[in-house]
Amino acid sequence: MTNTEQTSEQASVLITGANKGLGLETARRLGELGWTVFLGSRDEGRGRAAADKLAAGGVNVVTVPLDVTSDESVAAAVRLVREHTERLDVLVNNAGAPGKGTAPADATADDIHSVYDTNVYGPIRVTQAFLPLLRAAENPRVVMVSSAGGSFATVTDPEQPFSKIHELGYSSSKAALNMLTVRYAQALPGIKFNAVTPGEVAHRTFAATDMNGHTGALTVTEGTDSIVRLALLDADGPTGTFSDRLGPVAW
Ligand SMILES: NC(=O)c1ccc[n+]([C@@H]2O[C@H](COP(=O)([O-])OP(=O)(O)OC[C@H]3O[C@@H](n4cnc5c(N)ncnc54)[C@H](OP(=O)(O)O)[C@@H]3O)[C@@H](O)[C@H]2O)c1
Repeated sequence: MTNTEQTSEQASVLITGANKGLGLETARRLGELGWTVFLGSRDEGRGRAAADKLAAGGVNVVTVPLDVTSDESVAAAVRLVREHTERLDVLVNNAGAPGKGTAPADATADDIHSVYDTNVYGPIRVTQAFLPLLRAAENPRVVMVSSAGGSFATVTDPEQPFSKIHELGYSSSKAALNMLTVRYAQALPGIKFNAVTPGEVAHRTFAATDMNGHTGALTVTEGTDSIVRLALLDADGPTGTFSDRLGPVAW
């Protein structure tokens, strides 16, 4: 993939769910490149605490209260970002919900709905609301933080742990997110839309965060390699792809 080694000091990124885990590490890494970071957090206090730490390290960071399940919250986030910039170079749809992992036979539509509200409708809400700011950028990019669990190839491979995790919500929501990525990429060629999974699918590894009780074999820095790489794509970079830190991943 094409990467831009030099990044503009003026570049800006909004990351949803950036108060901890992979979102926060993405914020740190892009912030240390001199980017303006809009740090999305559904809890303002947790967001501010995370932003204060980044600011202490010299990052230009703005806390953005942002619950991706709320139209009002997303609209308020657009207004706040607009107070600071007229364009947004990169949107990272990172916020995610694991769901309860209920066995398929017991899962209700309500259980699944709450996962979709965050993992599927969330990225739609946020992407749609930020399109005008993205369109104002020269080389706008959207990174969808998906999962190997959203890959048909992975969940049907008996060697992969995901084939043995029997649940409906999380994996199907990330499969939907992958399809959203492709459909946005096709419909909006002026903006690059790429999906990533933070692990290494070939090695069946993922990054240690609260979402998995810190059982992952990879660090958050390794987990964000794919996110950062796609955020840094230059104008010749691809759109409509799905990859991990090692390269392309089968859908
Ligand atoms: N760790 C991995 O290896 C791995 C593997 C595959 C996919 N992923 C994906 O990576 C993304 C980040 O996960 P993580 O591993 O960094 O987990 P994490 O540490 O649990 O972080 C999840 C983040 O999402 C936020 N969030 C949840 N619901 C939200 C909502 N409605 N509005 C706004 N923010 C919300 C959380 O906020 P609160 O702090 O307020 O809860 C938190 O900041 C997720 O999309 C996840 O599915 C991770």
